[in-house]
Amino acid sequence: LAIPKYVNKLEKPLTFFPQTVKEKIKKNGEHHIQIQHHYKIDICETMQQILPPGFPKTKVYGYGGFVHDPKTNKLIYHVSSPGSTFEAKRGIPVVVKWKNKIKEPHFLAVDPTLHWANPNGMPMDPPKPWPSFPPGFKNAQWPVPTVTHLHGVEVQSDSDGHPEAWFTHDGKHGPAFVSDTYTYPNTQEPATLWYHDHTLGMTRLNVYAGLAGFYLLRDEKVSKKKFSEQRLDLPSGDYEIPLIIQDKMFNTDGSLLFINEGTTPEENPYWSPGFFGDVIVVNGKAWPNLDVERRQYRFRILNGSNSRFYNLSFSNGMKFTQIGSDGGLLKYPAELQSLLIAPGERADIVVDFSGIEPGTKIVLLNNAPAPYPFGAPPDPETVGQIMQFTVPLDAAKPVKPKELPKVLNYIPTLYADVPRRILTVNDIAASGGIPTMMLLNGQLWTDNVTETPIVGATEDWYIVSLTAGSHPIHLHLIQFQIIGRHNFNVNAYEGEWSRINGPLPLKKPPVAIPVEPFLIGEPIPPAENERGWKDTVIVHPGQVTRIRVRFSPQDVPEGLSQPGENYFSFDPASGVGYVWHCHLLDHEDNEMMRPLKITR
Ligand code: C2O
Ligand code: CU
Repeated sequence: LAIPKYVNKLEKPLTFFPQTVKEKIKKNGEHHIQIQHHYKIDICETMQQILPPGFPKTKVYGYGGFVHDPKTNKLIYHVSSPGSTFEAKRGIPVVVKWKNKIKEPHFLAVDPTLHWANPNGMPMDPPKPWPSFPPGFKNAQWPVPTVTHLHGVEVQSDSDGHPEAWFTHDGKHGPAFVSDTYTYPNTQEPATLWYHDHTLGMTRLNVYAGLAGFYLLRDEKVSKKKFSEQRLDLPSGDYEIPLIIQDKMFNTDGSLLFINEGTTPEENPYWSPGFFGDVIVVNGKAWPNLDVERRQYRFRILNGSNSRFYNLSFSNGMKFTQIGSDGGLLKYPAELQSLLIAPGERADIVVDFSGIEPGTKIVLLNNAPAPYPFGAPPDPETVGQIMQFTVPLDAAKPVKPKELPKVLNYIPTLYADVPRRILTVNDIAASGGIPTMMLLNGQLWTDNVTETPIVGATEDWYIVSLTAGSHPIHLHLIQFQIIGRHNFNVNAYEGEWSRINGPLPLKKPPVAIPVEPFLIGEPIPPAENERGWKDTVIVHPGQVTRIRVRFSPQDVPEGLSQPGENYFSFDPASGVGYVWHCHLLDHEDNEMMRPLKITR
């Protein structure tokens, strides 16, 4: 299917419209009125024009709810993929009732050999060899389970969207299900968060089918605080645009094509270690164009792809400034010529078009190999291009760019106060070297929880890469800091590790092998655009990646790490717990995910 580029217009997602509710709460023995924003959001199947006008529409899953229609100025019900944006204010909790309205069988093939939601309780390890559907396989894809996770949020675990908290339109639900109504406290720093499906063993399918959207958390009002996002006076309104970048594949009838044959069919008939599409879709439109004015713009870039990394740059070579990372504003603005962004990561950037001549077209390019970093370079005619920016011939006079302050945010220094954790990323390969299963610390999703930090503790996690690819490792609940990376002797370490711990999967916690004897050269500090709060860190092959995680709310000041009475407890009585995982959706669906439980 030959799809013309830059015919589509970029669309800015609409904004969900909340119902404002006044809730009586009791705090320190006194009664207060707490404003809350309530939403009812549907998860449904819909047809959407992703390909340029004239091409067929595409069946997707989207999120539906009431939005303010900028064209008519009326409140309308709107379903789309990506879903409309939540505009959240710090200090105002958001309550969302998520409703699964998907009544049709899944339009993508579920792989029943993986650990998956399995609403009909069919045998988990059906007879091999493939491909012969086990009895009931078709039925197993109905009804479609969904569960929504708000990525990057500080939240109680029963509102986190645990992978086993899925539910169907007809009331079936997973073992971790507590409620379909989630409360987001919005106590953390302003940040570009995003929501997406997280159903066990089906996240790659549900997100690919369309279940993702933005959740922008802002300062409620201009605060007198020295570092407040409002005081930066960043481009806003039409000049602030979130961009979710995804790679997809289409059949000639316009339907979405997903790899429906595994690369190791004997093992997993409908799973491959990494899906890569050949069409770039931004905000639900294939290769869109955006007409820009000659002024600064703020783009909140999200890599919402299954497995593809992007290394972005502008075709005219112009520089841009990254001001924010996953969890808020960076300490210092980072001037960049290219931006590496992995699935799950966000980059808040300011781009200045004020010096661009009218009539100029600038393409946002990508040169990241797939899989990253040792795969094939992208085809410059397809996935080597993301979108286009056009300064129209009749563009108005340029607007002088605002200068950003030298310091954007206060980022507290964290000090580790408990023994470190050494954790590995592993894969199990079939003959021929194709991975058939991805693991964290050699263990399966169902093995007993081993990551049980004490609330308030600050831990160093040494993530040791024993695979040949880069993995974006994501922790729920917590914004952490990257300490740095260190090259190491993989073969020697792996030899020692497997000699002591035995073959994979281990089925028991591994003996941690200290990394020091295997390190090579000097430590590598985090990149400039990683010096802020992160919830997803790229773990490269050949390296030990070190992060520092304080299991406290983000706004606890420096030096105070232990929980005090005013620090809300993260883990509620329900004790559902959290997860940490690789954000390559194909990996997280095949065991590269582990429970995370906060303890007292
Ligand atoms: Cu964005 Cu656990 O995921
Ligand atoms: Cu991975």
